[in-house]
Amino acid sequence: MHSSAVAALLEPLSRPALIGWLREEDPARLEQLWQAADEVRQAHVGGEVHLRGLIEISNFCIRLCAYCGLRAPNTELIRYRMTEEEILACAQQAHALAYGTVVLQSGEDPLLSRELIARVVRRIKQSYPLAVTLSLGERCAEDWAAWREAGADRYLLRFETSNPQLYAKYHPPRGSDRRSRIEMLRELRSLGYEVGSGVMIGIPGQTYADLADDLLMFRELDLDMIGVGPFILHPRTPLAESDFRVFVPDGEQVPANELMTYKTIALARLLCPRANIPSTTALATLNRWRGRELGLVRGANVVMPNLTPPRYRVLYEIYPNKACIQESADACHACLRSRIENLGRPIGRGPGSSPNYQARYSN
Ligand code: 5AD
Ligand code: FES
Repeated sequence: MHSSAVAALLEPLSRPALIGWLREEDPARLEQLWQAADEVRQAHVGGEVHLRGLIEISNFCIRLCAYCGLRAPNTELIRYRMTEEEILACAQQAHALAYGTVVLQSGEDPLLSRELIARVVRRIKQSYPLAVTLSLGERCAEDWAAWREAGADRYLLRFETSNPQLYAKYHPPRGSDRRSRIEMLRELRSLGYEVGSGVMIGIPGQTYADLADDLLMFRELDLDMIGVGPFILHPRTPLAESDFRVFVPDGEQVPANELMTYKTIALARLLCPRANIPSTTALATLNRWRGRELGLVRGANVVMPNLTPPRYRVLYEIYPNKACIQESADACHACLRSRIENLGRPIGRGPGSSPNYQARYSN
């Protein structure tokens, strides 16, 4: 039996209700939110926790995002780009560890050419029964079409914030491309990708109303995958300078903390019951002891063990003190496995597509 508070959460959530939940501090009420999210997760995507092997293939980036350590002007960072053979070796490891998916992620790196990525995708798909997710930033529609043609299954592109002023402040435009990320996500959808997006939580200038709008945007876009994580200040970015930050009135700024991340995951689950939602590394960075587990019992159903060779992984420094930075792929795998088993949840088998996507393309 549901308590009436949990039952009310199963009704469509309005913008004021979302803002109310994001501001909620009462532990008993929050317990009801966690319970509702966990029930909805179980009912729509089941108990399985899917593992996605993350391969950080290049840390070169031509962009200037104000929050990100990979931004082009960060000349302190040693840059790397994995070779085709190195990427294939990681995919092999993913298969050997029985993962159903690999995620190829990078900064916005033009030297990852259309042809190179298409060839890598084709080789992975020919060699292993893996789903391939790409997370390579903003690219032209022709690149995305070629990669889809080569067999790529999914694409991740966070829209970061649905507030256009805040987005513009932190993302200097690139060249003449004036497509918004929302438009790009629609392009990816029309190419037949399973589409994922998400936002950072607590970026300076983000209000509770903004975060509620982000959540409503997840639903409007009908996302198949939703990744959210706390903003973590990187000292070599413009946001480290207080005069660069956007300030909002007292009491309006969303804090970039663990609790706010759980609330966002839980509300995303209630709004998008069939989406795949990871318990992210940024969350584990705030609570190494139990961050991932708490994400998984408050709406999340995916984790992304890192397969990047450690010598490169330390250089993929989007934000400082990232969890799991030193671990080998095997150590990360064993650690995550035992964490999932301790929760009493089975590890997902097969590609683990969102039932949302499956429904869109059936009949
Ligand atoms: N703190 C937390 N998350 C960040 N990202 C980028 N920089 C930071 C940061 N300083 C997130 C962005 C991006 C994803 C790859 O990492 O949301 O889309
Ligand atoms: Fe990577 Fe624990 S999850 S070491």
